[in-house]
Amino acid sequence: MAIDFRKVTKTYPDGTVAVDEFSLHVPSHTCTVLLGSSGCGKSTLLRMVNRMVDPTSGAVLIDEADVATTEPVALRRRIGYVMQEAGLLPHRRVVDNIATVPRLKGASTAEAHRRAHTLMEIVGLDSALARRYPRQLSGGQQQRVGVARALAADPNILLMDEPFGAVDPLVRVELQRELQRIQTELRKTILFVTHDIDEALTLGDQIVVLKKSAEVAQSGTPQEIVEAPANDFVAQFLGLDSARRTLNAVPRATGGWLVSDGRGRPLGVVDSMPDTHTDAD
Ligand SMILES: Nc1ncnc2c1ncn2[C@@H]1O[C@H](COP(=O)(O)OP(=O)(O)O)[C@@H](O)[C@H]1O
Ligand SMILES: [Mg+2]
Repeated sequence: MAIDFRKVTKTYPDGTVAVDEFSLHVPSHTCTVLLGSSGCGKSTLLRMVNRMVDPTSGAVLIDEADVATTEPVALRRRIGYVMQEAGLLPHRRVVDNIATVPRLKGASTAEAHRRAHTLMEIVGLDSALARRYPRQLSGGQQQRVGVARALAADPNILLMDEPFGAVDPLVRVELQRELQRIQTELRKTILFVTHDIDEALTLGDQIVVLKKSAEVAQSGTPQEIVEAPANDFVAQFLGLDSARRTLNAVPRATGGWLVSDGRGRPLGVVDSMPDTHTDAD
């Protein structure tokens, strides 16, 4: 399912213009990353898709239908949503957290549990963890449960708001790989929010670089953005962290690796990496 933002504006009651006339087409079955600094309006944009926030003007469409015409609760049951803090129900076991939406949709407990176990396998969680409570899991495991729960209703659309922002860098890379693997299989329409350029380059089929009030600084494929930053703002964003990126190879969901130098300048795309010199080993 495709998502269209048509000139959406959100002004909060205190006068903050979080989003100013933002337009974007999010194609079906691809991952679109909204990349920008804290406070630029990313979460507001994401929340307008499932009506946790209603735009002040403009419209968000899913397959041409204005979401404003759909009842919010119904909408949220058919759109997956993953937040930074997995947002799990603390007093419910892992299996029941994942089974929540299938149960609300009328599945029997047995059916919903079966589905939960299948999803645990999909997101790489050992089934022995099913009976634990969220606090008995690591941060990375909790995020996996969050992803499993978002997938439980088999939604066409997955909204992910800095879902891997609270875990340490190694686990983060692991979760990114897992998401790529899941996406190769499930081909959801993913709208993914991050302020991390490497994460955006890794996961995005399309990246939208945002300034304050969700002004689009540039949108394009990772390669387009790395090869030809549209302006100083984008170039600066890419340049952040360059010290730790001496030579960077980013695996692409669609295959191959995007290789760039320490300044974010592309060296090219290669089909495979020599066994001994990849980050992925
Ligand atoms: N409920 C709210 N009331 C008032 N201002 C808000 C509210 N939510 C977000 N904002 C403001 O709107 C702007 C965009 O916020 P947000 O969409 O959360 O950005 P991001 O997710 O990119 O950090 C920020 O200035 C933020 O302080
Ligand atoms: Mg946010």
